[in-house]
Amino acid sequence: MPIAVVLTALLVSCAAPEAPFDEAGAIERGQGIARAAFEQLFTRVRMKMEAEGPSAAVAHCAVVALPLVDSLAAVHGVRIKRSSDRLRAPHDAPDDDEQRRLDEVLALLAGGARPADLPPQALVLGDSIAFYQPILINQPGCLKCHGTPGVEVDSTTMEVLARTYPGDAATGYALGDFRGLWSIRWKR
Ligand code: HEC
Repeated sequence: MPIAVVLTALLVSCAAPEAPFDEAGAIERGQGIARAAFEQLFTRVRMKMEAEGPSAAVAHCAVVALPLVDSLAAVHGVRIKRSSDRLRAPHDAPDDDEQRRLDEVLALLAGGARPADLPPQALVLGDSIAFYQPILINQPGCLKCHGTPGVEVDSTTMEVLARTYPGDAATGYALGDFRGLWSIRWKR
């Protein structure tokens, strides 16, 4: 047997046996988690807004506070995060791969893509699967805290936002705008 063939055979047999990446399955799983997280998050925000107004609900648009986030992390090692090119919370700042995906999405938008047509993405990232799903300003309620100050965002809410998030860049949005990404990861 020629030496090159032997070497190739050795290299192939020494490679770690890895299950092939099921991209469609990963996208489906990520979308299910993102949908559940959105529902849990916005149900809380909406209930608080209806009862006490948007300024009181500001503390409830945080993913960190969600029971679902904790339980999924405990059971499946799933990490749920959001990120954006126009950040409100510093803890949502993108890591390298999130920045890569944000740049891709912004390039698609600059090229004329409609926010509603932006695709999800799933890929292998080290020993994890990374999943990204665009988040849109998909209902008028979002504008109470992400719309135009003085128009949709009232002055009390602006005060609370300015106090809690000094570098806030997440106002001035309109209905249908791209707002950011769900970034969900789990062990491969
Ligand atoms: C009551 C006010 C309020 C409403 C209503 C609201 N948000 Fe937020 N949003 C916030 C606050 C506050 C944060 C920062 C949360 C944190 O500290 O983690 C935030 C953060 C986010 C982030 C994470 C990125 C970042 O900049 O930190 C996204 C994405 C987001 N909001 C989208 C939405 C969408 C979409 C809606 C409507 C479905 C919505 N928000 C409705 C207050 C609100």
